Amino acid sequence: MLKVDEINVYYGNIQALKGVSLEINQGEIVTLIGANGAGKSTLLKAISGLLKPKQGEIMYLNQSIAGKPAQTIVKQGISHVPEGRRVFANMTVEENLELGAFLRNDKDGIRQDFEKVYELFPRLLERRKQLSGTLSGGEQQMLAMGRALMARPRLLLLDEPSMGLSPLLVKTIFRIIEEINETGTTILLVEQNANMALSIADRAYVIETGRVVLSGTADELNASDQVRMAYLGGH
Ligand SMILES: Nc1ncnc2c1ncn2[C@@H]1O[C@H](COP(=O)(O)OP(=O)(O)O)[C@@H](O)[C@H]1O
Ligand SMILES: [Mg+2]
Repeated sequence: MLKVDEINVYYGNIQALKGVSLEINQGEIVTLIGANGAGKSTLLKAISGLLKPKQGEIMYLNQSIAGKPAQTIVKQGISHVPEGRRVFANMTVEENLELGAFLRNDKDGIRQDFEKVYELFPRLLERRKQLSGTLSGGEQQMLAMGRALMARPRLLLLDEPSMGLSPLLVKTIFRIIEEINETGTTILLVEQNANMALSIADRAYVIETGRVVLSGTADELNASDQVRMAYLGGH
C-alpha cells in the first residue's frame, strides 16, 4: 500500500531522516519505535505531505506522493493524527469532526461516518456540543482520531496517541486502534510505549537518529535482545 524509499528529510541544514525506507501492506498495523528525537514524527510528516523529502520516493497505491500538497494526500486516503492532538479548542466536538470531512461532499457518507465515530467514541457523542478546549486529554485524543476518521482514510497515521494518558485510557485507545484496523483501515502507529505498540502491531521498525536500524514482525522484535534492552525496559 505504501512504500517509502530511501528518503532524506532536512530542517534547514539539519538532516532528520537519512535514507529511510519502509513498507506498509494493506490491512496491517505497523509501528515505529524510537527514542525522542529519532525522527518518527518527521517520517509521518513526510508521508502526509507536511514536509517534503529532499531525496527519495514515497509511493502510495502505486502513485508517487512525495512532495504533494497535504490536502491532495488526504484526498487520496491518508489521514494524520499529529502529536499533541491539535483540536480546535474554541469549536465544539461536532464542529471539529465536521472539519475532518471538509474535503468531501458525499453527504450520506459523511452522516454515516459521524455515526461510526460516535459508535467508536461514545464519549464524543455525549459531548458533541461541548467546546473541545474543555475536554480532558484522553477525550481530545479521541476527538483528534475521530476527526481523522471523518476523512474516511485508508491509511491512518497516529503520532503518539497514548502520550500523557492514564494507564486505563491508554488501554482504551489501543483497543480502539485495533477496532479501527479491524474495520479495514491500515495503520502506521508511532509510540513511545513500545510494549503496547508491539502487542497490537503486525510489524515494526526501529528508528535511531534518522535511520531505520531494525525491522521485523512484532514477535521478532519482541524477542530481540537489542529491542528489549533499549525499548522494553530490559526484561
Ligand atoms: N521544526 C524543526 N526544526 C528543526 N529541527 C527539528 C524540527 N522538528 C524536529 N527537528 C529535529 O529533527 C529530529 C527528529 O525529530 P522528530 O521527528 O520530532 O523526532 P521524534 O518524533 O522521533 O521524537 C530531532 O533532532 C529534532 O530536534
Ligand atoms: Mg515525535
